Amino acid sequence: MSHYYSKEQIDVESNPSTYNFNFKGLELKFKTDNGVFSKNYIDYGSFVMLKTFVPNDIDLPILDMGSGYGPIGVTVSRLYNKKVYMCEINERAYNLSLENIKNNNADCCAFNSDLYEKVNDLTFSSIITNPPIRAGKKVVFDIYDGAYTHLALNGELWVVIQKKQGAPSSKDHLEALFGNCEIVSKDKGYYILKSVKTK
Ligand SMILES: C[S@@+](CC[C@H](N)C(=O)[O-])C[C@H]1O[C@@H](n2cnc3c(N)ncnc32)[C@H](O)[C@@H]1O
Repeated sequence: MSHYYSKEQIDVESNPSTYNFNFKGLELKFKTDNGVFSKNYIDYGSFVMLKTFVPNDIDLPILDMGSGYGPIGVTVSRLYNKKVYMCEINERAYNLSLENIKNNNADCCAFNSDLYEKVNDLTFSSIITNPPIRAGKKVVFDIYDGAYTHLALNGELWVVIQKKQGAPSSKDHLEALFGNCEIVSKDKGYYILKSVKTK
């Protein structure tokens, strides 16, 4: 059986639908489908991330790691007029993200990528992730470790994770990796964690 976080979605029949997402004055539309994460409406954790995230002044693109059909990357790009790269392993979600980028006139560049493989030579100002908990702790921690490598000096990693899905162990890992990890907000059990690459 394949899962939303696997490379292929061969055994889930397609049944696309669209929802409207009005946020901070933007009127966006997202096409979703069976077999992708949070197919009916934007995930509450992703919504909390959008309410909390603020881009920094570093003149480099932002990365949305595990971008799904694009709700975080597209919204951030439109809200802040920033270039956003997106990496997503699930091919159906990736294909939907291409449509959502185009239909929402967002300045995004999406890759069907296992972790950082397609953006290996790039450096980012911020990396945002709603990590794939169900893919396992190794994948989640690989996202954190790769973020450290792919951030510019003073760049920031922003993570949304539920307390019950491992926010405390993510915080410990990020503290060890970056030397800092701030809980920027807590909302209905969702934590927004931020670590800054200071050296
Ligand atoms: C919790 S979902 C978040 C999706 C999207 N950002 C959103 O807010 O709806 C995590 C995403 O990470 C993707 N993913 C899982 N493993 C991955 C990997 N190795 N490389 C890239 N993306 C991966 C999953 O397919 C899934 O779409």
